[in-house]
Amino acid sequence: MEPIKYNTKLLCADKNGIDTASELICSGEVVGMPTETVYGLAADALNESAVKKIFTAKGRPADNPLIVHIARLDDIFTLCHDIPPNALKIAKALWPAPLTLILPKRDVVPDVTSGGLDTVGIRMPDCKIALDLIKKSGKPLAAPSANTSGKPSPTSAAHVFDDMQGKISAIIDGGECSVGVESTVICFEGNNIRILRPGFITPDDLEPFCDKVIIDKNVLQELDENARAASPGMKYKHYSPKCEVFLVESTEKAFFEYAKLNAGQNDYLMIFDGDINTTGIKSITYGANDKENAEQIFACLRKADELNAKRAFVRAPSKSGVGLAVYNRLIRAAGFKVITLN
Ligand code: TXA
Ligand code: MG
Repeated sequence: MEPIKYNTKLLCADKNGIDTASELICSGEVVGMPTETVYGLAADALNESAVKKIFTAKGRPADNPLIVHIARLDDIFTLCHDIPPNALKIAKALWPAPLTLILPKRDVVPDVTSGGLDTVGIRMPDCKIALDLIKKSGKPLAAPSANTSGKPSPTSAAHVFDDMQGKISAIIDGGECSVGVESTVICFEGNNIRILRPGFITPDDLEPFCDKVIIDKNVLQELDENARAASPGMKYKHYSPKCEVFLVESTEKAFFEYAKLNAGQNDYLMIFDGDINTTGIKSITYGANDKENAEQIFACLRKADELNAKRAFVRAPSKSGVGLAVYNRLIRAAGFKVITLN
């Protein structure tokens, strides 16, 4: 069947916009929704045919599950069972937040939403527009990042429009996302917590709620061939602009020396605000610290494509705090090509 061709509307993030978006959701359509992390492609999580439209619009593999967004803590009980006590404690203490909990799903959550798994990711976003849309539509909303599968996630309505024009009914324009990288995804293993995808909520934030926070090895490593992924998203190509990305671990001085020797005419450097580039090679800055790096990283990867960059050499962020989330996205954008200099 040919996918439907939509005349994608841009909606204001006001009462009218939320009303229109919620009507579309209730009639089984997909809407671009701002959140504090990245924009999502939202549809009624319990409506199979609506959820299938998300997969079609993104070109997403059917076994990669979606996160379900809620606006009231109690909805967790309708969607999940056998919720570990520390999961509930975390939800009560930290939500609304850029934090997704993987929990055993109830049958009301269709298999299309959970990618055939018996668990489902649940999150209460810390974004008034998203919460208003969930409340107004009266549905839990399945929403993956609103990019075409494999591309950098969108942090503005314009990014969503670039990827989704003609593929979804509408996008709510809620301005730029404040966090900039997707939520931290965690699962529960007895009294331990495993981080499957790092985000703005860091291991330090989670430590008070468990014995140990384990960072899954595939957060920073490529999945071994034939290995089973703890989270299906780990096995797919991610966050990739058209240009070839190299992640460079180095000091400022070594980075520019390397760039002088290796970067050509159509290459760009992605550096920190405050780095002093005297090489004559074109550069894009992506913030001065971990939080700013998170906020700007996806827009910068998209910008490299707009500028027709052939290759992008990126100064690696730290691997601690929110830096780990940025590093995790960049190492995937780079297809695990890391250059380490002394
Ligand atoms: O911040 C976010 O989480 C954004 C906004 C829109 O809320 N959403 C988002 O969704 O990033 P998505 O679909 O792009 O990424 C969800 C990730 C995927 O890597 C998926 O494999 C993983 O979470 N995931 C979802 N459900 C899972 C489950 N039941 N078990 C393990 N991993 C799961
Ligand atoms: Mg995504």
